[in-house]
Amino acid sequence: RLPERVTVYEVGPRDGLQNEKAIVPVEVKAEFIERLEDAGHRVIEATSFVHPAWVPQLADAEQLLAAISRKPGIRYPVLVPNDRGLDRALANGVDEIAIFASATETFANKNLNRTLDSQFEMFEPVVARALEHDVKVRAYVSMVFGDPWEGRTPAEQVVRVGTRLLDLGCHELSLGDTIGVGTPGQAADLIGAFPDPARLAVHFHDTYGQALANTLAALQAGVTVIDASTGGIGGCPYAESATGNLATEDLVWMLHGLGIETGLDLDKLVATSVWLAERLGRPSPSRVVQALADK
Ligand code: HMG
Ligand code: MG
Repeated sequence: RLPERVTVYEVGPRDGLQNEKAIVPVEVKAEFIERLEDAGHRVIEATSFVHPAWVPQLADAEQLLAAISRKPGIRYPVLVPNDRGLDRALANGVDEIAIFASATETFANKNLNRTLDSQFEMFEPVVARALEHDVKVRAYVSMVFGDPWEGRTPAEQVVRVGTRLLDLGCHELSLGDTIGVGTPGQAADLIGAFPDPARLAVHFHDTYGQALANTLAALQAGVTVIDASTGGIGGCPYAESATGNLATEDLVWMLHGLGIETGLDLDKLVATSVWLAERLGRPSPSRVVQALADK
């Protein structure tokens, strides 16, 4: 049975932009977020408080949050890896953060400079202090189906890491197929290996064209929060072969076709992707954007 309504968790301003080499001006980022609000988004992952040298594109996180007017009823989570990141988030009035863990040893090292185990020493105080400040915490777990260095990721390993994150007090766990290698059977099996799909979200990159099929499997398995990125932009600078996320427009086309409500205006989303493609200097990889752009 499919849900009647789905929450689209928009990651374009964060995951979408983090891999862009040319620095996007902060005014463009702010307009991007305003356009997403206008298209009906109620959750927009705005930026990251990571080390600026690790992700130079998002080094303007403070300036961006100052440049937008955060509207009541809209959530603007930001990525935070550690205490220093939380300090910055709190100083900027953030009320929702997302920590991001790895399901594999190699990616924990490459993305966080930690081991699989020691990443938790970094996250534990962050979650505890965030909750003390009434800041909600989402958790990601990355490389859930496979990792470029270690091959296929065992589902038990993902469940172990994911459960540990939820047990810290995170309200939601987003399952990240960082390099887009998973297929629908794996998605259904992984979700089924967790006790409660209501606490899960899915975050599928579309490298092998499987993101939408995997999303349908996730919906059938009871997940109702789906991560997507405007026009399908994105990728992770610390994972070779990570391409863009599931495109929000491709997702919305499928959901609306299935009669599932999103609250999103597809025409406005497409117009935003066309506008953004001009700023980034290349066309959106989304099939739905390409199909609708000139209409
Ligand atoms: P580290 O080098 O181990 O950091 O990096 P450290 O704790 O040793 O600190 C070193 C220095 O950096 C210190 O300064 C800190 O203050 C400073 P010093 O005392 O030497 O002057 N520092 C910071 N400055 C500003 N903001 C901070 C911060 N932290 C430390 N937050 C660290 C560890 C976690 C910081 C680093 O590895 C990092 O920033 N990694 C982020 C990588 C990243 O953003 N990757 C992309 C996002 S994840 C993703 O895309 C996957 C996802 O989409 C899901 C999926 O697709 O699967 C979420
Ligand atoms: Mg991602």
